[in-house]
Amino acid sequence: MLKDKFPDFPLILSPMEAITNKPFRKICKRYGADVLITEFISSDALMREVEQSVVKMSFEEMEHPIGIQIFGNNEDSLTLATKIAERENPDFIDINWGCPVRKIAGKGCGSGILNDIPKMIRLTETVVKATNLPVTVKTRLGYSEDSKNIVEIAERLQDVGIQALSIHGRTRSQMYKGVADWTLIAEVKNNPYMKIPIFGNGDINSAEKAIEYKNRYGVDGILIGRATIGNPFIFRQIKDLLNGETPSEITIAEKVEVCKEHFEGLIELRGEKNAIFEMRKNYSGYFKGLADFKPFRLKLVNSLNKNEILDILKNILDYYSVAR
Ligand SMILES: Cc1cc2nc3c(=O)[nH]c(=O)nc-3n(C[C@H](O)[C@H](O)[C@H](O)COP(=O)(O)O)c2cc1C
Repeated sequence: MLKDKFPDFPLILSPMEAITNKPFRKICKRYGADVLITEFISSDALMREVEQSVVKMSFEEMEHPIGIQIFGNNEDSLTLATKIAERENPDFIDINWGCPVRKIAGKGCGSGILNDIPKMIRLTETVVKATNLPVTVKTRLGYSEDSKNIVEIAERLQDVGIQALSIHGRTRSQMYKGVADWTLIAEVKNNPYMKIPIFGNGDINSAEKAIEYKNRYGVDGILIGRATIGNPFIFRQIKDLLNGETPSEITIAEKVEVCKEHFEGLIELRGEKNAIFEMRKNYSGYFKGLADFKPFRLKLVNSLNKNEILDILKNILDYYSVAR
């Protein structure tokens, strides 16, 4: 059972394309993420053994418990992708029925399936039957404001055998706009018919908010996405609060060290050039709140050279180590 592999109230690193790759996942794990999930992987691409998709599936021993997340919209590719993913020995397969991006949802994948619930249930059942691994689903409240049918969807997904459900408190139409509505997530959780763990997701951006939402909505665990970007430390801070301690302050030395480790891990995974570009979306997170940081940030995001970036990071450390 999947439940037995997760601690009570797991803190889950929410899957994010081009963010939650192996080097970043490993850092999050070290800082207290209890469960990891890969970036979403196209079942069609996996079926064709597209190299990038195969690479996305790989993880290290220390990453357990980890799920491989797949998306697709037909029986054949989802079945085959599930069997290919199974070979990697993840702890579970997560189906992405939540992505709202047009190029995914427009093809009936991700949250595009939310306007055809019978198909969503049928395809989920297909995946459950294709593997001995536990299957989980990550989805949204419904397709649009007037079809927030997650309570019914959750029951039907449980009926076909999924072992946990993660709910992002927005609809497909909302994309990332507005505020995540956790009251409907709590309704699913409080439905006496539901036996599987219900994980809440959306807008958790501080350790305090994580605890507040845990207590207010009673979910079995939470997924944190955007607030982890350049801030894997949030997991440790939540753990501190859960243990009745004050959330630990992260020193500039630690931020620089982790940022460097992240960059070097990305170079190993993606090559120097890709790593330099992909790292750019992380710097604001790592160095959020530092006074006068803008000139450093501009240098970091404009540099095309690994050693130069490492030098800038060293300069950041020197500059901010002196009390200012
Ligand atoms: C850049 C980016 C990429 C994402 N990629 C994925 C993905 O691959 N799979 C998935 O299930 N959700 C994906 N999401 C959605 C997040 O996992 C999460 O559900 C959403 O951001 C809401 O949580 P948050 O408010 O904690 O960020 C992505 C979100 C962002 C911002």
